[in-house]
Parts: sequence; C-alpha cells; structure tokens
Amino acid sequence: MKNSSTWWLRILVGFFIVLGLMEYFVDSGNKPVIFVYPIALAFMVFILLLMIAIELIVAAIENVMYQTLSIEAKERYLAVKNKKWEWTWGKRAYLKLLGSKPIEKEGEIILDHNYDGIRELDNELPPWWVYMFYASIVFAVVYLARFHVFGGYDQELEYEREVAAAQLEIEAYKKTAKDLVDENTVELLIDASDLSSGKTVFETNCIACHMVDGGGGIGPNLTDEYWILGGGIKKVFHTISEGGRDGKGMIAWKQTLKPIERAQVASYILNEIVGSTPANPKAAEGDIWINPNMQDVPAPEMQIPELEVDSTTSVSDSPSK
Ligand code: HEC
Repeated sequence: MKNSSTWWLRILVGFFIVLGLMEYFVDSGNKPVIFVYPIALAFMVFILLLMIAIELIVAAIENVMYQTLSIEAKERYLAVKNKKWEWTWGKRAYLKLLGSKPIEKEGEIILDHNYDGIRELDNELPPWWVYMFYASIVFAVVYLARFHVFGGYDQELEYEREVAAAQLEIEAYKKTAKDLVDENTVELLIDASDLSSGKTVFETNCIACHMVDGGGGIGPNLTDEYWILGGGIKKVFHTISEGGRDGKGMIAWKQTLKPIERAQVASYILNEIVGSTPANPKAAEGDIWINPNMQDVPAPEMQIPELEVDSTTSVSDSPSK
C-alpha cells in the first residue's frame, strides 16, 4: 500500500503549534521557554514521542483495515486516497476575487481599436482591488473623524504613554533583578534567605577585621549606633562598595562582591549586628547616625498596615528625593 500521507508534516506542524502555545502562555522572559524550564523541554520531547506514536498506531490500523478489504474495495480505497487533494472553495474564491474573464469569453470585452495587431481588453477592475479601495476610504473617514475632528490621542501623548509604561516595566524588572542594585536604589533586605547569605559573606570576608560578632578589631565596632562613615543602608552599602578612608584598611569590595552580595551583607550588619552585644566591643568611633529622612517619614506602626510592613522595609532609608 502506498503511503502518500504527509505524516512528518503533521508531526512538525503539531509540534510547533504546541511549542508556540507554550511560548505564548508561559512567561519565560526573553529566552525560549524550553531553555528556561527543563520541564518544558521534557514536555516537548514527550509531545513529539506521543505524536509519533499516534501516527504509527493510525498507520497500523489503516494497514490492518486495508488487508481485510476485497480486491475491488482496495482499488476504490486507493483511488480515493490518492486523489489529488483540492481546495475547491479556495480556488473559486480566488478566481472570483481576480474577476478576470475566462479566455473563451474575451470576445465580449475586446475594444474596437487595433494598433498593428495589438488590441485592448476592457477588463473590469479586479474585485480584490476595488474592495481594498473601498476599505481604505472607510478607514480614511473614520481616521479623519477620530483624530482630526474629535481629537483622539496624538503622537506626543502616545509617546508619553509608552514611556510611562516602559518606566513601570523597568521598575518591575529592577525588583526581580536584584543584582542591579546600586547605592541609590539599594533597600534594606529583611528576607531570612538574604540575611543568611549576608551572614555568609560577612563570615567569609569581613571577620578578620570586624570580628565574627562585629565587635571590631582592625575595623571599627559595627554593633553600636556610632558610624564613622554614616549608617543606614545606603551609606553602609556605599562604604562596603567603595571602601573606607584612605589608609585605614577597609578596601572597596565592589571588585570582589556582587551588588546583591553587598546589599545582603549590609542588610545583615544593620539587621543583626547592630544592636547585638559582642564579646569584646571596640570603643565607639564616629557619630550616632540619625537618618536625615526620619523627620518626614511617619513611624511605620502609625500609618502602614501590618501587611505592608514587609514591602516597605526601608521606611527609614527611603530616598531623599
Ligand atoms: C582589612 C580589614 C577589613 C576588612 C577585611 C573589612 N573591613 Fe570594614 N572596615 C575596616 C576599617 C579599618 C574600617 C574603618 C574605615 C575608615 O575609618 O574609613 C572599616 C569600616 C567599615 C564600615 C563602616 C563603619 C563605620 O563606622 O562607618 C563598614 C560598614 C564595614 N567596614 C563593613 C565591612 C564589610 C561588610 C566587610 C566585608 C565584606 C569588611 N568591612 C571588611 C577594615 C576592614
């Protein structure tokens, strides 16, 4: 039995439809889904195998049925199966849209003149062209009314809207991309996971000078409220990134630590080291840190409902802008 079916085409099309749907419905940033989620890759492999299996089963059933047919029926079956597939409806619609006269009827529309044997047919404009022309007229009327009579949005407004939308997207992106923090955007982290990462960073890099409990050694005591270089998450982040005063020994950590690691260790210091009681505290150095924004920020418990306390972790450190 001749198998003229395009089984591989069906599989290919089906495969890409499923892939496309997944890409559409699953949010995977700007990378393809299957590269982001291994499970999606596994799923696609599964779909592929499934489709191959279905094709095989269908072919097998067809074969078995074919074998049961009488010779005559076999012939009829093959005739139907191998008949060229035609899309009659589409063909007719296409001809209609072209609106051209069949060659036998050209006599009806031929014009009188004849230049050296060259004659002219008085064809009607093709319907596809005419309909598009009408559509463009309707469009123009609607457009004119909407934008020039009733004052729809103009380019400037459109631009502003897009910029505003993009700004929102940037904000949202920055929230997910923690590593983008810098000393202007850094906020006090309070997630346990961030703090424990901060603790690890601290214990790996900082205890030689600040002691494991932050009591101080070569470096100053971090547990007290006194800061040489300024407290608050932004200042502390800045100190850690850029280092202390020349010759004091506190290097700039921005070469070694990623922004998020600096934010984590700064948050760890502020959340867990400050206010703790070290074994051998070094004498306080610097000044008591008073947050310059404190005055204009209401005390959290007065205004902010319980639920929101988490998302507004940096009430005391909100930017001064
Ligand atoms: C080589 C010793 C050394 C290491 C290691 C070190 N520091 Fe320091 N740190 C210092 C010194 C010294 C100062 C004081 C700088 C100054 O006076 O300008 C300081 C200051 C600071 C301050 C500012 C304190 C204030 O009162 O303003 C912070 C915050 C700080 N260090 C955090 C860290 C963190 C976090 C690490 C680890 C990533 C670290 N340090 C590693 C020596 C060190």
